[in-house]
Amino acid sequence: MADRFVTGSTPPGLTVTGLAHAYEETAVLREATLTVPAGAFVAVLGPSGCGKTTLLRLVAGFERPLFGSIAVGGRMVSGPGLHVAPEHRRVGIVPQEGALFPHLSVAGNVGFGLGRPGRRSGHGDRVAEVLDLVGLRALADRMPHELSGGQQQRVAVARALAPRPAVVLLDEPFSALDAALRAELRAVVRAAVRADGTTAVLVTHDQQEALSIADQVAVLRDGRVVQSAAPDELYRAPRDLGVGRFVGESIVLPGTVVDGGVRTALGVLSVAGPLAPVDGRVSVLLRPEQVHLERTGDDVPPPAGRPVVAGRVLGSEFQGADSLVTVEIDDPRAPDGADRTVAVRERSARRRPGDRVTVTVTGPVRAFPPS
Ligand SMILES: Nc1ncnc2c1ncn2[C@@H]1O[C@H](COP(=O)(O)OP(=O)(O)O)[C@@H](O)[C@H]1O
Ligand SMILES: [Mg+2]
Repeated sequence: MADRFVTGSTPPGLTVTGLAHAYEETAVLREATLTVPAGAFVAVLGPSGCGKTTLLRLVAGFERPLFGSIAVGGRMVSGPGLHVAPEHRRVGIVPQEGALFPHLSVAGNVGFGLGRPGRRSGHGDRVAEVLDLVGLRALADRMPHELSGGQQQRVAVARALAPRPAVVLLDEPFSALDAALRAELRAVVRAAVRADGTTAVLVTHDQQEALSIADQVAVLRDGRVVQSAAPDELYRAPRDLGVGRFVGESIVLPGTVVDGGVRTALGVLSVAGPLAPVDGRVSVLLRPEQVHLERTGDDVPPPAGRPVVAGRVLGSEFQGADSLVTVEIDDPRAPDGADRTVAVRERSARRRPGDRVTVTVTGPVRAFPPS
């Protein structure tokens, strides 16, 4: 998917190399490296406090890094002995709380970075153009306090895009909004950035947001980018167990390497990618949609002809479009106290505690050194 952006001679939109930063004694970024192809929409995903805002402030030039370098649109803006001032970096930023100028109208806010309005400058045209992109042209004369939270964030995005930055940085721009509005705004912002052809970096702690909005997701952990990949690849082939658990829902089971795969409580499963066992043991990661339940009982015999594992439903939690069903696996070999429960996502079937089921797994799983 990232191939779309590789055009040979075009410099990347943003390159961050070996970036380190600390507040007093506390290291926040250790050696963060990230390449954002020109025109791409990249999400940096990490838990709260991991240094996402710090990374954006370094790129924008509000902070100086301890080590490392930053290039915007192929031009070095930060490095040993080099610190280009924020206003000369061609970087636009949407802070976490939009932070509009309260005394300026929507048009005034959006035009703020464009210099003096003038008939020749094209100032008004550009303001109208970016307001169109975010669907707010009709509200150009409103004041910020006359806008909803979502509209304010759209204005903040339009304001960041107006001076045609090489890169626009979005700091958790939807976090203060409710779920429905967040999804709508995500689509608006993505379309606006794309239509303007701007390279974008959005930081978020919300994995669903990162997976849904970005061409490429970079996972930030312990001050480093541990994996940067297209959303589907990140979900399917996480680099380690930590990334796998952090991105999407997961089931993690202990396993032993055997002929043809890994033996787990859910049977012998086939593995995609590296195995990396320690003393023959691994941790196996699979996704809830890979696990299927079928009811068995006095009137329903177990399915014939394929290896199956039997279990008993412990509980079922209704979650709207699907239910989360907890199953305890019958495993005579499991040591006492071993966790034999798995949570499975099902679309329609109603399960009751005590129901007997068989459990099958489709598709390969991933294996990692035992956790
Ligand atoms: N100006 C500051 N002075 C001291 N510590 C800070 C400052 N800004 C952030 N920190 C600390 O640095 C760490 C990373 O912060 P931040 O970059 O805001 O993380 P995130 O945006 O991922 O939540 C946190 O532990 C935070 O408390
Ligand atoms: Mg932050």
